[in-house]
Amino acid sequence: MSKFKLPFLRKATTLNDYELSKENIPEHIAIIMDGNGRWAKKRGLPRFAGHREGMDTVKKIVKVANKYDVKILTLYAFSTENWKRPKKEIDYLMKLPMEFLHTYLPELIEENVRLETIGEFEALPPHTKQAVQDAIEKTSRNDGLILNIALNYGSRYEMTQAIQAICKDVESKKYTIDEIDESALNQHLYTHHLKDPDLLIRTSGELRLSNFLLWQAAYSELWFTEELWPDFNEDLFVEAIRDYQQRKRRFGGI
Ligand code: FPP
Repeated sequence: MSKFKLPFLRKATTLNDYELSKENIPEHIAIIMDGNGRWAKKRGLPRFAGHREGMDTVKKIVKVANKYDVKILTLYAFSTENWKRPKKEIDYLMKLPMEFLHTYLPELIEENVRLETIGEFEALPPHTKQAVQDAIEKTSRNDGLILNIALNYGSRYEMTQAIQAICKDVESKKYTIDEIDESALNQHLYTHHLKDPDLLIRTSGELRLSNFLLWQAAYSELWFTEELWPDFNEDLFVEAIRDYQQRKRRFGGI
């Protein structure tokens, strides 16, 4: 929990009575789900208990996003830097997608959710890859909410890979250096087919992006809350959207 109370950090309130404008729901919401460890520590529990509770929050928030007609929900579940954590915690985090899909896949299918991932998929343990791949296939014909899980994702790595691919295209004379533009780089990102996030939420009071969607979030509206991810809920989700609806997005214009 951050020591200082900043005016734009929000506390949980009950806001279910608030009417959101249906015309201005952010199409793409990205979330940095932070604070699982602290949630567990506060209760004298091991860190994995926080991640487990965090997984249950994922289930709840997917339903809520669907309810408010969000089109894409991107969740930062494991970063390229998270490999620095103790092996036991990594193993647990790698088992979570399996557990999540084992218990929740039928509901995802029923709710017309399509599962996708961004990140270096090949480097994941075989059991994680298999469970995720299976769910991606089983939900591939769904055309409702896209649940996009960032697994082994890092923005700098993503951009470095994109630059390498562009250099190869130049080498093979697919296009010239002068023809490289933003859309060329965009086409080589994991998110090439997705709209950029309209709203980016981070829980737990930390005010940084932590290598998440650095290119894609260039014009995202940012929203921070001191609540820890396991405590994130519908009221806070609605509050974030309400704040978003009150902002003027100018994209550099006036
Ligand atoms: C950051 O909190 C959280 C993570 C690195 C893991 C996030 C994973 C989940 C919420 C579960 C995901 C589930 C599915 C199905 C994808 P932290 O551990 O850094 O917390 P701390 O800063 O309080 O220590």
